Amino acid sequence: MTQHDGPKPTSGPESAQPPAPVDYSGSYTAGGAKADSDLNSLSVGPNGPLLLNDVHLIETLAHFNRTNVPERRPHAKGSGAFGEFKVTHDVTKWTRAAVFAPGASTRTLLRFSTVAGELGSPDTWRDVRGFALRFYTTEGNYDLVGNNTPVFFLRDPMKFHHFIASQKRLPDSGLRDATMQWDFWTLTPESAHQVTYLMGDRGLPRTWRHMNGYGSHTYMWINAAGERFWVKYHFHTHQGVECLTNDEAEKLSGADADAHRRDLFDSIKAGEFPSWTLKVQVMPYEDAKTYRFNPFDLTKIWPHADYPLHEVGVLTLNENPKNHFAQIEQAAFAPSNIVPGVGWSPDKMLLGRVFAYADAHRARIGTNHHQLPVNRAVNEPEGGFNRYAHDGQMQFEVSDAPVYAPNSFGRPFSNETGQVEASFASDGEMVRSAYELHAEDDDFGQAGTLVRDVWTDEQRARFVDTLAGQIAQVKGDVQERALWYVTQIDAETGAKVRAKIAAKPAAAPAPAGFAEPSKSAADPGAVGAPA
Ligand code: HEM
Repeated sequence: MTQHDGPKPTSGPESAQPPAPVDYSGSYTAGGAKADSDLNSLSVGPNGPLLLNDVHLIETLAHFNRTNVPERRPHAKGSGAFGEFKVTHDVTKWTRAAVFAPGASTRTLLRFSTVAGELGSPDTWRDVRGFALRFYTTEGNYDLVGNNTPVFFLRDPMKFHHFIASQKRLPDSGLRDATMQWDFWTLTPESAHQVTYLMGDRGLPRTWRHMNGYGSHTYMWINAAGERFWVKYHFHTHQGVECLTNDEAEKLSGADADAHRRDLFDSIKAGEFPSWTLKVQVMPYEDAKTYRFNPFDLTKIWPHADYPLHEVGVLTLNENPKNHFAQIEQAAFAPSNIVPGVGWSPDKMLLGRVFAYADAHRARIGTNHHQLPVNRAVNEPEGGFNRYAHDGQMQFEVSDAPVYAPNSFGRPFSNETGQVEASFASDGEMVRSAYELHAEDDDFGQAGTLVRDVWTDEQRARFVDTLAGQIAQVKGDVQERALWYVTQIDAETGAKVRAKIAAKPAAAPAPAGFAEPSKSAADPGAVGAPA
């Protein structure tokens, strides 16, 4: 029986039923002895002091102190579900990965999240949403750790720590702060495309079911003949893309901080399984050099007119976690988990992430996090893979095989001189430098195209309202720089935001934070309107 299905209280004046029977047959200590009581501590006489030899009490209190693992530094608040990915279209001309083979069906785990909020923060604060997908393939775990937007704020992993710090909390008050956020963004103009998505409708998805997912980076696919292609992943929701207004999001943040977690769990429990179609854009390997945008720049999309979408398969979530901690909190998604037929690209952000996640998992969950059931590859044999990285905290694979290679006692080791399937060409001196620019590369161009050529009038109007509400809270010179930045994205938007802010007299100082839904939805133009 789970808590969700538990018996309804039957005592009380309105119920004639006796209370449901309780099972007193006992529990056990960690050592496997029967616990004397889960209800009474051992004391010297009924009113007396407690005893250090009450092993069960000590164990219970001590375990309680260790029930949390550190929360994820970004993307702390989230939840997820298991499902299935079924291939519907033949893509073998581009990849030999078993997970994308015709007719293949693969178990998956998908975790959704917000980026900046802490573990208990509301699901409906304005933010980018994480879309972290694991395929438990027959060739090992393949993790595609993406977001609900096709681009990102940055091009270089050196800036990631600073970016997250600017979105988290001030050192003195511990408050979030719009000035700090806009200061970082406006001094890092490559953020403009992602900030445009964030301040638009995608910053407030109605539920996790009502948003798309993207791999965002450019990845490599390799076919059976060894030919290489660049790909971008798009997961299009079957539920339709829907968003919340600022006002709805603010109310929900107070009324039900777990609104998105609840929606996902309840939908799956009711048998309404959310699903997405996976489509990919495919670029021939050689095109990368001459394409009008640098195809490895994570702040850019590839217009569909240049590289159309090709269908691959359907992802369906159909199984809730049984235990949120064991299966979601301890899930360790890592861009370093790839499989044959799939590779990385020269995207510097992606290459930074290939290190960062597994390292976070060693620190957050433990050295042997890959042995936990949720992280264990389905092709892993009983007793584990033949790995020479042994021991460490919580090692539970038992083996008396030689612990070194090369060895002459029968334990296999690899003697390849290095077949690198997913290789890409690179040469040059070591430098610390931005990417080389391609013909149409700049910081603001694609953001402006999104506003002017993709969005409707209603979307543009909501964008102006949200920006005015946010930038009104930005203090000092940074506010003027924020208006300049928005004007670079779209001159008309910039003028409207400036006029809205100027039209209202300053109000009381406001709590700030882009991720917190703006109260200014009701009165979006108010200077200093509460956020
Ligand atoms: C979580 C680092 C960029 C999507 C995390 C975590 C770290 C991290 C350390 C926590 C992992 C954990 O404790 O389990 C970085 C670094 C980045 C970067 C260093 C840039 C250099 C990105 C980008 C995306 C992204 C570009 C999306 C395209 C996510 C998601 C999660 C996450 C979805 C949550 C994963 C989960 O649900 O467990 N990131 N990140 N990150 N990141 Fe990043």
